[in-house]
Amino acid sequence: MTKILVSGGCGQIGTDLVPELQKKYGKENIITNDLREPESWDGILEIFDFQDVEKVEEVIKKHNITVIYHLACILSAAGEKIPYKTWEVNMQTLRNVLDLAVKYNLKIFWPSSIAVFGPSTPRDKTPQDTVMEPTTMYGITKRAGEMLCNYYHKKFGVDVRSVRYPGLISYKQEPGGGTTDYAVEIFYDSLKGKPFSCFVGPETTLPMMYMDDAIRASIELMEAPAESIKIRTSYNLTAMSFSAEELEREVRKHIPALQVAYNPDKRQKIADSWPASIDDTKAREEWGWQHKVDLPEMTKIMIDELKRKFDGEN
Ligand SMILES: NC(=O)c1ccc[n+]([C@@H]2O[C@H](COP(=O)([O-])OP(=O)(O)OC[C@H]3O[C@@H](n4cnc5c(N)ncnc54)[C@H](O)[C@@H]3O)[C@@H](O)[C@H]2O)c1
Repeated sequence: MTKILVSGGCGQIGTDLVPELQKKYGKENIITNDLREPESWDGILEIFDFQDVEKVEEVIKKHNITVIYHLACILSAAGEKIPYKTWEVNMQTLRNVLDLAVKYNLKIFWPSSIAVFGPSTPRDKTPQDTVMEPTTMYGITKRAGEMLCNYYHKKFGVDVRSVRYPGLISYKQEPGGGTTDYAVEIFYDSLKGKPFSCFVGPETTLPMMYMDDAIRASIELMEAPAESIKIRTSYNLTAMSFSAEELEREVRKHIPALQVAYNPDKRQKIADSWPASIDDTKAREEWGWQHKVDLPEMTKIMIDELKRKFDGEN
């Protein structure tokens, strides 16, 4: 029987992933971990620091875990403020997870990111295999993590699967300190009638994906037959690419009074080092990836859902 542990599961992705996994495998079979208890949570929680390997092992044994979605992580922009801690948390937890996968024959999902690429990478239609010289500590941990996953697969046969998520856009949980957070923040500010200060310039273009597509991709990857998973570092994955200005124009169609000022800060440099668009042909060919949501549809969903959320809060 499938029993899943989701580390860092109360963050932006976990908040959407856990209910989908609960629907698919049964609420009693999904165990969510995070550092702090959220205000409300529907499901089984195990609150502890995932760096504590003995505790991770205890929880694996207690719940007879067969699969880990390892999301606990320090993200790109947050990580630049605490680079050494970012190395420690991101690398140590991944290595522990992979060691425990060997010991307990666990199947692992671990997300990588477009942050594995750097300024020397071709920026348009970035290929699956290309120059990768990341300049953030987060990107370095993702690149090293990809190599570690590939190593554990080749050496110990661990069934570890991964995608390089682009920037993810969702409404349930606010993002946790990434470089693409502006693409979510614009919706919050515009719906609250606040002028939006964008921390990247108008022409900054990055690959993005609506959260439902990202969750579906992750679950489809995990359910694909092992023989179709040829890449054990991490798959390129994308849905759409747009500039900050194109996003502004799309939001303005729904909120004509939208005010945007562009005030690039330190995160601009990180954004400039990442691809503008991604070639994800391998994911599409090898395990059938297809995105569903484009920029106009994502914008409409975000506005409708956030309106509903804010109405519920009042
Ligand atoms: N959100 C994106 O746009 C995006 C893009 C690319 C890759 N990713 C990857 O997806 C994964 C999840 O990202 P997210 O956006 O949900 O991040 P997030 O910051 O919203 O959530 C991460 C969660 O991990 C928890 N956490 C951190 N350290 C922990 C520890 N030591 N023990 C237990 N919990 C811990 C945090 O409290 C947080 O709730 C990460 O690996 C991230 O690199 C995310």
